[in-house]
Amino acid sequence: MRAIVVKNWLKTPNDMEVKDIPIPEPKSPEVLVKVDSVGANFFDILLVQGKYQIKPPFPFTPGAEFSGTIVRVPPSENSRFKVGDRVFGSNPTGAYAEFIAVPQTQCFHVPGTLSFEQAAGLYITYPTSYAALVLRAKVQAGEWVLVHAAAGGVGIAAVQIAKSLGARVIAAVGSEGKFDIIQAQGADQCINYRDPNWTSRVLEITEGRGVDVVYDPVGLVEKSLKCIAWNGRVVVVGFAAGNIEKIAANRILLKNIAVTGVHWGAYAKYEPERIPEVWDALFRMAEEGRISPVVYEPVFYGLENAKSALKAIANRETYGKVIVKPTSEPASKL
Ligand SMILES: NC(=O)c1ccc[n+]([C@@H]2O[C@H](COP(=O)([O-])OP(=O)(O)OC[C@H]3O[C@@H](n4cnc5c(N)ncnc54)[C@H](OP(=O)(O)O)[C@@H]3O)[C@@H](O)[C@H]2O)c1
Repeated sequence: MRAIVVKNWLKTPNDMEVKDIPIPEPKSPEVLVKVDSVGANFFDILLVQGKYQIKPPFPFTPGAEFSGTIVRVPPSENSRFKVGDRVFGSNPTGAYAEFIAVPQTQCFHVPGTLSFEQAAGLYITYPTSYAALVLRAKVQAGEWVLVHAAAGGVGIAAVQIAKSLGARVIAAVGSEGKFDIIQAQGADQCINYRDPNWTSRVLEITEGRGVDVVYDPVGLVEKSLKCIAWNGRVVVVGFAAGNIEKIAANRILLKNIAVTGVHWGAYAKYEPERIPEVWDALFRMAEEGRISPVVYEPVFYGLENAKSALKAIANRETYGKVIVKPTSEPASKL
């Protein structure tokens, strides 16, 4: 099969190479999936450069999120999957390939309402945003939620989930060119956080009161405290801007604020019972059409083009989830 193979740390993802390697043998409790779509992530860039927290032994195939069709279930397995099932899932590595062997616990059936492209970017973003807004911030209908990086992978999921909970959403992005995208997801108001006066704009929108909840995957807590309401809650989701803030604790006291974090990946270790609860809620939302993953255009066809996909992410050009297809042509052209 064809796969991206990394044999030493790369200077940039531009140095990634596609090779012919054997199809992986699924070992119990794994299934073998023919990959249809790969969800590209910023951390793929760090992984191939040896700058990520996970450093796989060489040679390895990068890629953490995928969707596709089950082609083999080990015969000894009493499995909830069968050959032909449409699935999506995640693995620390191996997705930028034509096939991936993956533990069954890391796969789910693709909801009937979603395409392979939509499902490939579901595994990390939606449960993170659901856990942030529901388990951590306990968002209530009618509340104002400020979502930073609202057009990004986790941000766009947060906009959809917050709207589905009945909240009012202020979507903050880094360019006005992204306003159309987030408005289409139901955002009530859009702001550009590159505008130095963005906190005043939030206060204006909320008639001086401030927002009830701040969802922050960027690293904008300090500034957001200028436009948060009494009893507000901040959820720290990530540090896309590359800076980990230090917050003056008096600012938290003054407005009776709660600052919380969310680390979705760690739920498997500390609160595994929450995982099916979160997914059941998300699958219900998907079936009712209340959430619908957004796929960045263009989709990148061919593993050789994964480098262009990662370049677009690094340049902040993208919205929603960036998808790479191992096949080199759209189905209509094959
Ligand atoms: N806590 C968790 O469990 C969890 C789970 C998943 C992801 N995360 C974290 O959440 C963050 C966002 O992930 P994602 O998948 O949504 O990423 P993404 O799709 O690449 O979106 C990130 C967005 O951040 C914005 N941004 C603001 N300042 C930036 C800067 N200086 N450089 C680059 N981007 C900047 C960009 O939008 P604009 O151009 O519009 O500003 C960009 O589109 C990451 O830090 C990730 O590690 C956390």
